[in-house]
Amino acid sequence: MFTKQGPTVRELAVQALSSTERGYDLLAPKFDRTPYRTPDRVLDAVARAVRGLGPFGTGLDVCCGTGAGVGVLRELCRERVTGVDFSAGMLAEARAAFPPGDTGPAVHWVRADARSLPFAPAFDLALSFGAFGHFLPSERLGLFAGVHGSLRAGGQFVFPIGAPPPVGSRAYWTLLGFDAAMRVRNVLWRPPFVMYYRTFRLGDVLEDLSRAGFTVRLQPLPGLGARPDGSPRARLVVAVREH
Ligand SMILES: C[S@@+](CC[C@H](N)C(=O)[O-])C[C@H]1O[C@@H](n2cnc3c(N)ncnc32)[C@H](O)[C@@H]1O
Repeated sequence: MFTKQGPTVRELAVQALSSTERGYDLLAPKFDRTPYRTPDRVLDAVARAVRGLGPFGTGLDVCCGTGAGVGVLRELCRERVTGVDFSAGMLAEARAAFPPGDTGPAVHWVRADARSLPFAPAFDLALSFGAFGHFLPSERLGLFAGVHGSLRAGGQFVFPIGAPPPVGSRAYWTLLGFDAAMRVRNVLWRPPFVMYYRTFRLGDVLEDLSRAGFTVRLQPLPGLGARPDGSPRARLVVAVREH
């Protein structure tokens, strides 16, 4: 999973004992060589699906990290792209990866907590990859309301969501074990590092999006494969701010 150029076990341990924000500051220089960066095949599958929902002028990548979603937005948006993240270290890596003067729409980087997004309703498209596990279920409605408030009327918020692993499968036990270990860690150690895999359940997510004011639909992401019963392994959530 990790390459020789990725973080050492010791570095990962120090990061895991830091706050979420500080942990990412420390991980940032090696983040793109970890499996935590959203893989290109996921980015490509989402880009293909979202292209048909446009055209888009302005785009926002929520919890942009080193800019995985910003790359997608630069393919899809004509005017301006913004990445927002609370880790200064991750934003520094992102800035270096997208130097000013590149062809394509201009990119702006904003350091802010996604739980209180600082934007006027200016964006046509918002997306997010790989970050929802960092929000407690009680924070999710506020997060979604902030994205809703950052979109123009007619704007869309999109993100992929994976089907949960079958109960009893190896992946099921791995994620359950990870979340249990994080809960123990967060009881025993301060500051907390918030990262849970099993708290972002489709039904709850759809309910919170609706409560935040979105009209929501799902579409399959066929490029990411199918489960043995033929259902898609991942779907795209498309949440629209109607007014
Ligand atoms: C796993 S990384 C994903 C980065 C990128 N979106 C990707 O897919 O490669 C999670 C990112 O979420 C950011 N993050 C976590 N909680 C946040 C918060 N409350 N506000 C802003 N950024 C946050 C972290 O700093 C980190 O850059």
